[in-house]
Amino acid sequence: MYEFAVNVDSILVILLLVVWSAAGILAGGLPTRRRARLLLALIGVGTVVTVARGIGTGLLWSNGWVFVADRVLVALPLLAVPMVAMFALAVPALRRIAGRRQATDGTAETAETARTERTERTERTERTPETAGAPPAPFPVSVRVSVRTTAVAALLGAFMEYLSRPLPPYGADMAIYAGVLLVAAAASRGRNPRPRRAGTRRAVAVTALVATAITGAGVYEMRTSLLPDRMSMMGHGDVDYGGGPGGSHHGSRASGAPAVKAVDAADLTGPRTGTPDRAFTLTARETSIRLGSGAVLDAWTYNGQAPGPALTVREGDLVQVTLVNRLPREGVTIHWHGLDVPNAEDGVAGVTQDAVQPGESHVYRFRADQVGTFWYHTHQSPLVGVRRGLFGSLVVLPPEGTTGEDITVMAHNWERPDGLVAAFGTSDTLDRRPVRPGTPVRLRVVNTDRNAWSDVESRNLVLLGTRFRVAAIDGVDLDGPSELGGVRLSVPEGGRYDLTFVMPDRPVLLADLANPRAGLLLSPGSDGPVTAPSIPPDAPLFDPATYGTPAPAPFTRFDRDFTVIIDDRIGFHDGTLHFLPTVNGRGFPHTPVHMVRQGEVVRMTFVNRSHQVHPMHLHGHHALVLSRNGRPTTGSPWWIDTLAVQPGETYEIGFRADNPGVWMDHCHDLGHAADGMVTHLAYEGVSTPYEIGHGTPNQPE
Ligand code: C2O
Ligand code: CU
Repeated sequence: MYEFAVNVDSILVILLLVVWSAAGILAGGLPTRRRARLLLALIGVGTVVTVARGIGTGLLWSNGWVFVADRVLVALPLLAVPMVAMFALAVPALRRIAGRRQATDGTAETAETARTERTERTERTERTPETAGAPPAPFPVSVRVSVRTTAVAALLGAFMEYLSRPLPPYGADMAIYAGVLLVAAAASRGRNPRPRRAGTRRAVAVTALVATAITGAGVYEMRTSLLPDRMSMMGHGDVDYGGGPGGSHHGSRASGAPAVKAVDAADLTGPRTGTPDRAFTLTARETSIRLGSGAVLDAWTYNGQAPGPALTVREGDLVQVTLVNRLPREGVTIHWHGLDVPNAEDGVAGVTQDAVQPGESHVYRFRADQVGTFWYHTHQSPLVGVRRGLFGSLVVLPPEGTTGEDITVMAHNWERPDGLVAAFGTSDTLDRRPVRPGTPVRLRVVNTDRNAWSDVESRNLVLLGTRFRVAAIDGVDLDGPSELGGVRLSVPEGGRYDLTFVMPDRPVLLADLANPRAGLLLSPGSDGPVTAPSIPPDAPLFDPATYGTPAPAPFTRFDRDFTVIIDDRIGFHDGTLHFLPTVNGRGFPHTPVHMVRQGEVVRMTFVNRSHQVHPMHLHGHHALVLSRNGRPTTGSPWWIDTLAVQPGETYEIGFRADNPGVWMDHCHDLGHAADGMVTHLAYEGVSTPYEIGHGTPNQPE
């Protein structure tokens, strides 16, 4: 509903611009009867479209005030005020001009009809340059001002919709746009209409002026969007204190507050000494891989396989991973997605380390103290690196291990020669696997990639042939998960769902709705053909917000409150023009830094006013989902590290700032992140020595 209304709204804005601009141009011309009639018709159409936009806004309102406030407070009043003047003054005048014949029929001649007749005479004769006469009379001032001002309001409306959406608290936007409109109204009182040739000259001049202004603004935007050659994450964006005390990366400056000692993020490592319980070496290299369908791809892999080796460790293990880079040119890192490791082990190029160059290596050490399903991937140009294969799974088992079948499935999209294809691991076709009936099964589903078939929903999976439970989300067990069947599971990019069931005596299929040919088929017998259960066309969506048994909220008060408003707009990122997602109106590096102090409890509100789904991923912390669209969650505590915020949705999450560092907080649609949808969570007193930019080896997104 929201997506539909918001898309229609975007189209109506363009329609309004076209109709009102046409009316504005007409109102500047000579007041012939034909023009008056055309103007009245345009006013009719424009009014209908305006009312439609009003109704659309009403529909969007059901998603919450924040989704319409910019329209209700800024865009629509801007249009309505000149329109009221238009109906009160211009329409009656236009009617008189349009109905000139009746007016001369016995009744007294009005000023307008006299004017019109004079104008029509002038227009007929103006083609002869020799003709001298009285200057042609324009439309009455009420028509010129109200119609042209409405046209300017429509233009401002398009500007707000596509280039710069007003943000709360809207006061500045209201004042600026109202000011622009007043100036426009004053200017549109206009001079007399020019004879045709002068009119053309003027039109050319105005067009040239407007084109120059737009080009100038574009060049300015383009230049300011360029990422600096080198910059520190310390230096980007506006610091947002979320209503808490001020402070900086270099320590506390708040008076009265206990001083916070400055720490270097590079020193926030895991245990540097001690014999590791598990040691792995992951070597990044160029490899060709074969998909289930037989397609051979040039991939980048860890240890020659994609996904990389499945790392399985036990809770409490000291894990050591040596990353060796044997790629020909590209830098690489390893980020432990969802594992809240110490900051220096987080593997983000330019933030927690330098990207590991070809021929170099890097050692990560951390204690695995969260049980659950995680994954790892490069955080150096991940849009390219992860897509090409630099990822794998990481599972932390409880000390006693696991029983039954424990299967990890990584849902990924591969760039096949014939286009993008959704797969499980490298299986872009049906992958069969025998499982004895009665065996407890845990399917750990990791989504590494976006839903390439939908911009508004995350990857859609179904598990068919058995009832099952969603036992864990993002590596955290759910309380009291009930049995489910016939539902769609929408797993955010980067997110994980653990599904548990007891193997029945018929086949069970895990499938991706985007690619019905791929799937993991668990069959009770190893021989003979098995038929996969068929995929239901429109199963209801599983909703974690209402699933499982609730528990008392661990957070009752918040030290900081951050609001992240997500929009999209036409704009530049690093010098190229895109349709860009924005955070509070801007893209990286002009996005906010959320500053906290160790030990604080933080609330973050995401508002998605854009046209696309955004899986928001905070590094280093798990956050509890508190509410969606203003309604508190009622199910099991739902802890996430990656949360898909769909268009029209508002989420509140809460977390404890208990892992000091400089942490990425970005959209895990890696294309969006590469387009600047990146913020960071900073702890007061923690600074990083690393830098990002074209002049450094580090491109974290
Ligand atoms: Cu899975 Cu910042 O990433
Ligand atoms: Cu996004």
